[in-house]
Amino acid sequence: MALNDSALLAAAHRRQGDRLPIWFMRQAGRSLPEYRALRQGISMLDSCARPDLVTEITLQPVRRHAVDAAIFYSDIMVPLKAIGVDLEIVGGVGPVIAAPITRVADLDTLRPLEPADVGYVSEAVAAIVAELGDRPLIGFAGAPFTLASYLIEGGPSKDYAKTKSLMIAQPELWLDLCSRLADISAAFLTVQVQAGASAVQLFDSWAGSLSAADYAGFVQPHSAAVLRRVGELGVPRIHFGVGTSELLPLMGAAGADVVGVDWRLPLAEASRRIGPDFAVQGNLDPALLTAPWPVLAERVRDVIRSGAHAPGHIFNLGHGVPPTTDPDVLTRIVELVHTEGPEIRAE
Ligand code: CP3
Repeated sequence: MALNDSALLAAAHRRQGDRLPIWFMRQAGRSLPEYRALRQGISMLDSCARPDLVTEITLQPVRRHAVDAAIFYSDIMVPLKAIGVDLEIVGGVGPVIAAPITRVADLDTLRPLEPADVGYVSEAVAAIVAELGDRPLIGFAGAPFTLASYLIEGGPSKDYAKTKSLMIAQPELWLDLCSRLADISAAFLTVQVQAGASAVQLFDSWAGSLSAADYAGFVQPHSAAVLRRVGELGVPRIHFGVGTSELLPLMGAAGADVVGVDWRLPLAEASRRIGPDFAVQGNLDPALLTAPWPVLAERVRDVIRSGAHAPGHIFNLGHGVPPTTDPDVLTRIVELVHTEGPEIRAE
């Protein structure tokens, strides 16, 4: 089977075949004991710069769960680190920035990303793709808004107050910041695609904190710039955020082929909002992964049933795999989706 006929790429192009494709956001990493063993004594960002580790960690969930795609093991902050932004990934917290952005002079460090800055990414992608055969590798990057939120807040945030206030009160600074981030994001995706990734996902994880009007005015144009540049490379583009029920049509129109949906809306309703030109990805609530199997299995079937109303469906969670997830549950979901998926979709 050629890569282009893979279930995931076909669904992304709205040519759903017999197999319902499935993968999990954050499948590579924290839920797997074999990952935790490999990471012993190595910091997250150091692990991302080691092609041997990145290759092994990316492939671990593919071997274990028989998912239909691999997602590149890295982080949305890696390209920023690579151009010299002083940041750390702090355990149990997330990305922390040494000098948060407040004024124009702070943008000086945000220079364009050159492929040579992330040679270890090209190397790892090539090694992974060689092992994957006909299964696609999904490359990814953070979208300008989500990256900006870390750079402005200095770390994770609940309300994104500093980000929103800079966006509204200093629109020129915001524009300059997001233009630079769009360039960096597009360059990071280009590196991955040129090394062999056959689809990409743009993570605007925190865009759901915005109103549709502010998203349309201040954020969508920058994500659109990223997606336009990746579109020129000819690979399908997945565009995802959390809490984006009111933003879904705008996220599709930004230049996606597939819109990622969290658990708040049934996929049929999400697809109705996004329109017939887009496939959808999602959207099992990750919180349900701890529910007893018969209950969970019914919810998996509900997602399949609802997804059948969209012109293309890639099964996933509504957000990442929680760290405490029993990996055997993920394997069972993959089996269910593959064995019962086609039948349920045909009901
Ligand atoms: O699996 C693991 O958690 C261990 C490795 C790790 C990643 N990121 C992998 C990753 C660690 C420790 C981080 C740090 C980090 N970065 C956090 C900490 C909190 C947490 O969830 O563990 C956060 C919030 C970030 C920022 C970030 N990274 C965002 C917002 C996203 C987009 C996806 C999302 O969760 O909304 C990422 C992407 C990311 N981080 C990926 C991986 C392997 C790629 C996407 C994927 O696997 O689906």
